[in-house]
Amino acid sequence: METKAGGYQVLPFAWDSRVKDQGGQRWYHNYQNEEIKPADRLHWRQPLQNWNGMCADCHSDGLKRNYDLDKNQFSSTFTNINVGCLSCHGEMSETHISQQQTKQQTKQSSTVATKQGAWHRTAGQNTAKWQGEKRDNSFMDQCFTCHALRAPLTDGIDPKKPFLDQFSPQLIQAPNYHVGGQIKEEVYVYGSFLQSKMYANGVNCIDCHDQHTMKIKIPGNGLCLPCQ
Ligand code: HEC
Ligand code: HEC
Ligand code: HEC
Ligand code: HEC
Repeated sequence: METKAGGYQVLPFAWDSRVKDQGGQRWYHNYQNEEIKPADRLHWRQPLQNWNGMCADCHSDGLKRNYDLDKNQFSSTFTNINVGCLSCHGEMSETHISQQQTKQQTKQSSTVATKQGAWHRTAGQNTAKWQGEKRDNSFMDQCFTCHALRAPLTDGIDPKKPFLDQFSPQLIQAPNYHVGGQIKEEVYVYGSFLQSKMYANGVNCIDCHDQHTMKIKIPGNGLCLPCQ
């Protein structure tokens, strides 16, 4: 809701989009079991619930917050109200398109997941090792821009710049993380994944998730089998 020119606050209600049989198709209160007083930082009028500053960079693409410090006012702009092509690819320039065409012509797969190599497990090994050309997992920096608890250092996200040039991530510390580094509060994926053995051995997000639907590639424990 626009509470002052260009500044939007997130109302504490959400629409349950599930079908009616599953209890959906209704509005519900996000904090229905809590009493949120106006001074509480979760109250919808508080800065924590400001869309321009707190939500829009992860939930839309091409965002510029355009905050004017003197006027204490936003004039934010974005390309898409949802995560879109720009979020992960940035401007898909002529060069990029022609690169893709060249790759397709030479019938090479352009995906990171199948880049000149595969996960192989040989006799005596408990887990597979990546065999082939060294993997370039730098694309995960784009995933981390949104799948990390972090403080922005710039206005909006540039998917072509390294994550750490644009954000200061939350360290893997209590109370946000369990002492072992596992996700506890709303820390998304970054911190925990970075200190995993899988990350150290070159596993990336799209070994398990489809690069565009983001659904897992194989249901259940079968997902582990390519490596175990
Ligand atoms: C650091 C990036 C980031 C910020 C900032 C952020 N979100 Fe999200 N949000 C996510 C991610 C990533 C998910 C999906 C998480 C998952 O499935 O585990 C998500 C999920 C959601 C969902 C559930 C969507 C669904 O379809 O189930 C809602 C609603 C939501 N966010 C609202 C907000 C609001 C409101 C704000 C601001 C107060 C906000 N988010 C700020 C990254 C962010
Ligand atoms: C959530 C992140 C994300 C979003 C959003 C996204 N992509 Fe991708 N896309 C990827 C990843 C990851 C790859 C594989 C990485 C690589 O090949 O370098 C990829 C690969 C591609 C490729 C290379 C061909 C292929 O399929 O392997 C094209 C073309 C492409 N994306 C187009 C798009 C378009 C168009 C959109 C918007 C409709 C889009 N992408 C949205 C993450 C994303
Ligand atoms: C611009 C921010 C942004 C970027 C970049 C981004 N994500 Fe997400 N991602 C989100 C949000 C927001 C959601 C929740 C969407 C929703 O539920 O509507 C989400 C949801 C997901 C989900 C859950 C999908 C599901 O079926 O529930 C996975 C898995 C995921 N992202 C993986 C990735 C990977 C891998 C990358 C990098 C290739 C990536 N994301 C890049 C913001 C982002
Ligand atoms: C070893 C396999 C594996 C890898 C690697 C992996 N994931 Fe996942 N991820 C899963 C599984 C399994 C789930 C649970 C999915 C389900 O229950 O449908 C999941 C769930 C998620 C969800 C929550 C989806 C939801 O429904 O709430 C997000 C977001 C996500 N992963 C993002 C990422 C990102 C970002 C990366 C890379 C940094 C990554 N994942 C790497 C296997 C993996």
